[in-house]
Amino acid sequence: MRIVSISENKEIEKRIAITPEMAKKYNSHGFKISISKNYGEHLGFNDKEYIDLGVEVSDNEKKIIDSADIIVQVGLPSDEKLSFLKSDQILIGVLDPYTNQDKLNDLVKKKIKNFSLELLPRITRAQSMDILSSQANLAGYKAVVDSFSVFEKAIPMMMTAAGTVSAAKVLIVGAGVAGLQAIATAKRMGAIVYATDVRAASKEQVESLGGKFLTVEGSENLETEGGYAKETSDDFKKKQEDLLAETLKKIDIVICTALIPGKKAPLVLNERMINNMSSGSVIYDLAAIQGGNTALTQLDKVVVKNGVKIIGETNILNKLPTSASNLYAKNVFNFVSNLYDQKNKKININLEDEIIEKTLLK
Ligand code: NAI
Repeated sequence: MRIVSISENKEIEKRIAITPEMAKKYNSHGFKISISKNYGEHLGFNDKEYIDLGVEVSDNEKKIIDSADIIVQVGLPSDEKLSFLKSDQILIGVLDPYTNQDKLNDLVKKKIKNFSLELLPRITRAQSMDILSSQANLAGYKAVVDSFSVFEKAIPMMMTAAGTVSAAKVLIVGAGVAGLQAIATAKRMGAIVYATDVRAASKEQVESLGGKFLTVEGSENLETEGGYAKETSDDFKKKQEDLLAETLKKIDIVICTALIPGKKAPLVLNERMINNMSSGSVIYDLAAIQGGNTALTQLDKVVVKNGVKIIGETNILNKLPTSASNLYAKNVFNFVSNLYDQKNKKININLEDEIIEKTLLK
């Protein structure tokens, strides 16, 4: 059984799917491993480190793919590299089936078995494979650190002989995995933290981290059976807008994380609400790549409106790619282990297993 990974397009993706630590784990399962030359060099994992672990390193990516039973990646490889795949091979990654539908349909037609990890069910058994959680957690942390670094005032309250510095006030929009980590990070730095969400269950989680939950009065609980958010009605949007427009007058930093799976990100902060904020405030929109939670977000730009900075990053994980890769590669290893029948040394695509059934693209 050979597992391989080829270099990502490093211009847009700095994370990798096989770290040296995971190469050791694949070895202990009896896998052979191949990777591209300079695969992890940008993260400080040089080829020699992999070679010493018995990994084959080659600059011929066609050959690498040709020899593979399983190909593990972060993003979907380029069209040229995809053309090297053949039937019965397994491709695992964050394949983004909503955007890449046509390409993935072609792969399915070629009888390639594609597993897209963002489709993992949010069940207890899948937690060790849950790339959405491991990556969102880091994103929530980094969004806070980066917005604090561009905010031109101090974050915690400080009482000094020269006077008192008041604590910064932070609002987190969307209290899922990223939002909860953002709350915890902002609290650790001494900010006063508010948060809002459309799922009633998130109130208790926000409060357990020391955040103040802003409830949209008279609203129903907009949670699906799977634990995700539903789209909001016009009535809800109006009530949320009134609540946030008022709150934003006193907020210094907003971290936006609101998402609805498979849909464009909800527009939560319109221009009028942003106009309510004081000059010098910062908005970090983690939902930028899905369309953004604010009316003014632009991808990979810092938009300045009346002195308010609105930051929209395509891939914040590229700013801590080593931590992100370490967790991602572990998630992938756990996913592969669940697919692999250790006793009979073969892959077992058991469609009765919810984890396998939900992630396999058909
Ligand atoms: P997500 O990344 O899809 O969305 C982020 C947050 O935005 C969610 O909390 C959502 O309710 C909120 N949101 C959506 N529209 C909004 C709006 N208009 N205004 C304000 N907030 C809005 O969510 P994530 O982080 O992936 O979590 C989704 C669910 O999965 C949660 O219930 C979480 O507890 C659960 N979960 C379960 C896991 C497991 O058991 N394996 C692991 C991780 C998460």
